[in-house]
Amino acid sequence: MHKSGKLGSMKNMLILGIESSCDETGVALYHSERGLLAHALHSQIALHAQYGGVVPELASRDHIHRLTPLTQQVLEQAAVSLSDVTGIAYTAGPGLMGALLTGAGFARSLAFGLDIPAIAIHHMEGHLLSPLLEAPELAFPFMALLVSGGHTQIIRVDAMGHYTLLGDTLDDAIGEAFDKTAKLLGLGYPGGPIVSQLATQGNSDAYKLPRPMTDRPGLDFSFSGLKTAVLTTWQQAQNLRANDLEQATADICAAFEVAVADVLLIKLKRALQQEQLKTLVVAGGVSANTHIRATLTQLMRQRGGNAFFPRLEFCTDNGAMIAFAGFKRLQAGQVSQDLDFSAKARWPLAELS
Ligand code: KG4
Ligand code: ZN
Repeated sequence: MHKSGKLGSMKNMLILGIESSCDETGVALYHSERGLLAHALHSQIALHAQYGGVVPELASRDHIHRLTPLTQQVLEQAAVSLSDVTGIAYTAGPGLMGALLTGAGFARSLAFGLDIPAIAIHHMEGHLLSPLLEAPELAFPFMALLVSGGHTQIIRVDAMGHYTLLGDTLDDAIGEAFDKTAKLLGLGYPGGPIVSQLATQGNSDAYKLPRPMTDRPGLDFSFSGLKTAVLTTWQQAQNLRANDLEQATADICAAFEVAVADVLLIKLKRALQQEQLKTLVVAGGVSANTHIRATLTQLMRQRGGNAFFPRLEFCTDNGAMIAFAGFKRLQAGQVSQDLDFSAKARWPLAELS
């Protein structure tokens, strides 16, 4: 438990943020008055690419190697010293258990050594608040669409920590659907950026893919049927000549991306209508997708509202969103008190208060 009153008045807080829930080590420094001072990221994509997906044990080992140098890097970038840090925020879940524990252990030990508070952050709350890093005008209440490798959720946000889950996926998460589609088409990992890049060269009208769960009421999603439809379409394309098959691959990517964006559009329209909200926040790795960003920006424009997205580099996992969420929670007087800490592989956002 921290003894000092370093947090003191809520001024001049300097929060170190640590993210290690999956395959990216992210570290950042956020200052209460000066905003984001520095952030650094190490992506493990090259490490896992040969296996076609994240290998948890390798992820944990790599985080351990990166945490100290990345912390030194952000301190140098921000021209501050470790003793200036007044609080440490770390991702405590959801994510890969071993990977989470590396960041949690590092953060809690450092906080103990410095005699400053540590705060456990929910990874998806980090994503959800990330647009606020650069859009202070964003006000509650708003609708949030969280779209990542593990989540596809529509959430009503009334205040920080006041989250009502309105819609969720019944099977694959949307990022997972991108990743599986890429794998199926032999395009590599991670699939989202590859599929969306290839989609720019394709004709989305060349194939008609389903828009699952849109023909029935409700706000839940299902993406496994779409993946199966991609597989069937891909199998049928196999008798094409090499050049044509290449074009067909781009066409399938485009058709897939448009189908996914359509589903999001239909569900969000319903959710916004139901809750009478005019502000939409879209966050998580898939919010980097250009077509989805354009589709949802247009939707909000048509409804006389606004759509907010994180800066591209803060769509996928990063330390800045954790430092910022930590700042918000520490500012609100919250601290993880015990030396005894745990990470949570599964942790519903709605359980936060
Ligand atoms: O938020 P994130 O970095 O990690 C999780 O919390 O899961 O999201 C990673 C997911 C991956 O599934 C990746 O394929 C997807 O985000 N992604 C994209 C794009 N960039 C990343 N999906 C679609 N289009 C993109 N441009
Ligand atoms: Zn994430």
